[in-house]
Amino acid sequence: MEVIDSPELARKYVTSLRSQGRTVGFVPTMGALHDGHLSLVEAARSCDFTVASIFVNPTQFGPNEDLETYPRTLQSDLESLEQCGVSAVFAPTAETMYPKGFSTYVSAPKIGDTLEGVCRPGHFRGVVTVVLKLFQALPVTHAYFGKKDYQQWRVIEAMTRDLSLGTEIIGCETVRESDGLAMSSRNQYLSQEERQRALLLSQSLAEVEKAYHAGERCVESLQHQMHSILTGQPVSADSHTETPLPSMGLDSVDYATIVAAQDLTPMESIDRPAVALIAGNVGTTRLIDNRELRPL
Ligand code: PAF
Repeated sequence: MEVIDSPELARKYVTSLRSQGRTVGFVPTMGALHDGHLSLVEAARSCDFTVASIFVNPTQFGPNEDLETYPRTLQSDLESLEQCGVSAVFAPTAETMYPKGFSTYVSAPKIGDTLEGVCRPGHFRGVVTVVLKLFQALPVTHAYFGKKDYQQWRVIEAMTRDLSLGTEIIGCETVRESDGLAMSSRNQYLSQEERQRALLLSQSLAEVEKAYHAGERCVESLQHQMHSILTGQPVSADSHTETPLPSMGLDSVDYATIVAAQDLTPMESIDRPAVALIAGNVGTTRLIDNRELRPL
């Protein structure tokens, strides 16, 4: 496996494969790899060649976020990627990606204005800027993103379409721990007690999905159900809750909402594919999760 740190060499590598008519699948990451990332690699391996990137992108972190403490595990990440059959990894430094005097940013598409766009101002501007730069260095045919970051996936789809980049964007299903917790590099920040409470995210989504499949279509009532579970309040007798839930709630809920899956616009009744999205804090760790709601 080749490890490349310069955008010029990365572009040469991919351009040469493309000139031979090969498809190239790309998995962009910030490292600290877990099975969720490796499932993206697995999906990308349907292309002739698979490349990945490891870069903790400073421009997508807010001033009070975890840029400094974000886990960095380069050596073991490279070993995992090699074992999974990745042919090259682009691992640039921050100085290479953002040379002195850097001042050009891509503004995020409208679909990034809500939810994470509100809670993390500037986050999507940093994401689309770095993803465009990664696509410049690695002009691949296909790129794979986890639906765990649902809005990010939709933002990148929109940016790719709006800027006619020609890269096919593929959203891949969230990978979960056996108890339902969505895999995330940030899960390692959680204490044992916090991890227990973090289960409320996936549990409230499971309950909402159950209610949806039982015929509930009213967004207000489904959102109310999510909030009750997330805040650790007793759930009413007519809810569909069966699993025992941790008694204490999250420390804060940024949002627990249901929107249209395609464009993330609000809806009153679920009359088209929808997605339930949650963000909140357990201790000092901010977690997100979501579930698509579609007829069976
Ligand atoms: O999802 C991530 O890991 C990052 O946001 C991404 C897409 C690699 C851009 O830095």
